Amino acid sequence: MAAVTVLCAVRGEDETAVVVALGAPGSGATVTRRCGDLAELLAAAAAGVGTVAVVSADLPGLDREAVGRLHRGGVRVVALSDGAASADRLRALGADAVLEGLDEAALLDAVRDTAPLRDPGSVLDAGTPFGLPGAVRTPSWPDVEAAPDRAPGAVVAVWGPVGAPGRTTTAVELAAAFAGIGGRGGRRRRGARGREAPAPAPASALLVDADTYGSSLAARLGLLDDAPGLAAAARAAGQGALDLPALARQCPVVAPGLRVLTGITRAARWPELPASALEVVLERARELADVTVVDCGPVIEADELLMYDTHAPQRNAATLAALQAADVVVVVGAADPVGVQRLVRALEDLREAPVPVSGRVVVVANRVRASAVGAKPDVAVRDALARYAGVEDAHVVPDDGPALDAAVLAGRSLAEHAPSSPARLAFLELADRLRAVVPQPA
Ligand SMILES: Nc1ncnc2c1ncn2[C@@H]1O[C@H](COP(=O)(O)OP(=O)(O)OP(=O)(O)O)[C@@H](O)[C@H]1O
Ligand SMILES: [Mg+2]
Repeated sequence: MAAVTVLCAVRGEDETAVVVALGAPGSGATVTRRCGDLAELLAAAAAGVGTVAVVSADLPGLDREAVGRLHRGGVRVVALSDGAASADRLRALGADAVLEGLDEAALLDAVRDTAPLRDPGSVLDAGTPFGLPGAVRTPSWPDVEAAPDRAPGAVVAVWGPVGAPGRTTTAVELAAAFAGIGGRGGRRRRGARGREAPAPAPASALLVDADTYGSSLAARLGLLDDAPGLAAAARAAGQGALDLPALARQCPVVAPGLRVLTGITRAARWPELPASALEVVLERARELADVTVVDCGPVIEADELLMYDTHAPQRNAATLAALQAADVVVVVGAADPVGVQRLVRALEDLREAPVPVSGRVVVVANRVRASAVGAKPDVAVRDALARYAGVEDAHVVPDDGPALDAAVLAGRSLAEHAPSSPARLAFLELADRLRAVVPQPA
């Protein structure tokens, strides 16, 4: 029989004892997530990471609503009380089993005896796009102990106006290209005087999902477990506890050389990403990876009403922190009449951003196609951007529905799924261009 998957949200010393007891050979259980708080537990439950939650009575926020949410997520609740009164309270909250004190044998019985509320197989299927098992990716979690002996890595912020111009796609493909995933797709690299240049050495890359309006990297990369790594990293940063190993623990390796820090699963959790914490996360990221690529949200204005209260959380803080830290800001717009207008205004907004943006700005027109802007669409879009925004060297990426749709359906980057597709080759060239402006690791 498959081991019962357990989410552990126990405070204090008992936490280790619970994990050791459940992790012992032959226990019939396996701890799939050690949760620091209730928010993390609920996220893990919603992601289908476990079928039983072991919680302690003193878990802040544990109430009837939380137990109900766990049940609705198919998770049974085994609660550890710390006295008779707390046992009564836990039963009243709806816990499925209440243990008075930590007795290992009783704990194992309670965990194993509680039949799952739903078949774990169906949990997996439900979390998979259209139930297609091929779309799921199994990441790895290698430990990192010491900072590498090199200059700090670079930060590339990928930003752009609303309207799904392709920020996430650009961020994913840039990070994959820096990591050398998918090779050159049959393309030669042009060097000086048109000679073939050697393929650049792969760098270690980290993708960060800082979009507080619609995070999507986890789903995009086929990650079933979409616990918000960025929120956990920000929390640790806020407590002064985000060292390199702690950041690495939140950043699974999803493909060779590519780590990902997933974003908040619900837009309402944006207050968990304050600028002060994000600054630290991005500084640490420079130690973890040669290049950190941040997928930003579309909105950058500061909330005027909150401007005077410098401690009030700002919804756009994560994006602003990324723009401020960035060595390069890639501004992505959609290559249709509306998209180009928005892009022109977005470039103005960026110049007036409420934080200093000192990184080099590179403009990308995405989904370039004749049906939207007429014959010779790349020339038309470049001309429009030169005329209205003074951008002479916009990078164009063709519309490539078949390749993008197939890659998204498979939960893979273009680099992995369609390395010689036209859009992917355009992103590869963009990465080559950025290499010239991104500080190179020694
Ligand atoms: N060059 C392209 N050709 C065809 N489809 C594309 C291209 N670039 C992106 N897409 C598709 O457009 C959609 C939106 O792209 P993406 O998610 O990258 O945009 P976004 O700016 O991150 O949007 P959001 O506002 O949702 O965060 C996706 O379905 C993606 O597959
Ligand atoms: Mg996006």
